Amino acid sequence: MNSKTNNSVQFYDYHPAPEDLCSEILDGLSNKQKTISPKFFYDEKGSHIFDSICELPEYYLTRTESTILEENADEIAEQISEACVLIEPGSGSSKKVRILLDTIKPSVYIPLEISRSHLKSSAERLSEDYPWLEVHAACVDFTTSNVLPYSHPDRQKIAFFPGSTIGNFEPEMAIDLLKNIASMVGSGGGLLIGVDLKKDEFILTAAYNDSSGVTAAFNYNLLERLNKDLDANFKLDEFDHHASYNKTYGRMESHLVSRCKQTVAINSHLFEFSEGESIHTENSYKYSIDEFQTLASQAGFSNKKTWTDKNELFSVHYLVCV
Ligand code: AVI
Repeated sequence: MNSKTNNSVQFYDYHPAPEDLCSEILDGLSNKQKTISPKFFYDEKGSHIFDSICELPEYYLTRTESTILEENADEIAEQISEACVLIEPGSGSSKKVRILLDTIKPSVYIPLEISRSHLKSSAERLSEDYPWLEVHAACVDFTTSNVLPYSHPDRQKIAFFPGSTIGNFEPEMAIDLLKNIASMVGSGGGLLIGVDLKKDEFILTAAYNDSSGVTAAFNYNLLERLNKDLDANFKLDEFDHHASYNKTYGRMESHLVSRCKQTVAINSHLFEFSEGESIHTENSYKYSIDEFQTLASQAGFSNKKTWTDKNELFSVHYLVCV
């Protein structure tokens, strides 16, 4: 680990292991049900497309969560000790945390992000806009590591994990991830987390099949990325974007479905597709409030307060590590 100061941001580099795109993709496409992990959506182009998804009329998640945070910021702040240390695993552009900074007034903000460039630019922007805030930015893979670059024995640690990102993890993995967060905040620490709720299938299906095709472009970008980075020869127009609700598992599933029988090459590896065969690219689990609290309790968190919007589309939970 090394650290350096830039303006008032302290940077720490824990050198997260670079992901092995090639072997993970070859493994996933060799399974009976071909899969590609959703973590590979987020190259530069994919991250931009995701920002556009968040603005879509059909994608209610982002704006509903922001409204819940804005409308309940005072109540949220009441739950949290003054001058806390606010940790954001997977901080990305550190946009949503801005809603909370003026009311929660943490003494320290710790963004944890695997993308070095993204971390640097957003931590610097944030620090310029909030000159009173001490920022300790750590380049780290928060899914495998619980290191923190800063700790203060007298200050409560609060993790902020918005966006229903928890829904992109299989429930067992979600528990492990929450356990990791619990070990970061320690006993008495808190977790403020955004979780998408179970609801009418029609609303869910529309959110992942928007009429302007932005979510389809997000899915196709995976194939473009493999063509670019792994010299693959996917023909994008020979696949369909397909997103549907799986009631049994309580999750939205995204797939890329082959329109015909075809062979795709990735480096020297050949993959056969039959007509209608799919690559499973993402699960987005939806929880009821009780289901999520049960899940979080398995990671050592006890529920303190939950806020929802008036239509009960989305939930924000404040939980404490026991
Ligand atoms: C980041 N994550 C919570 C989004 C979701 O809703 O699962 C990713 C996404 N996939 C398609 N649209 C948005």
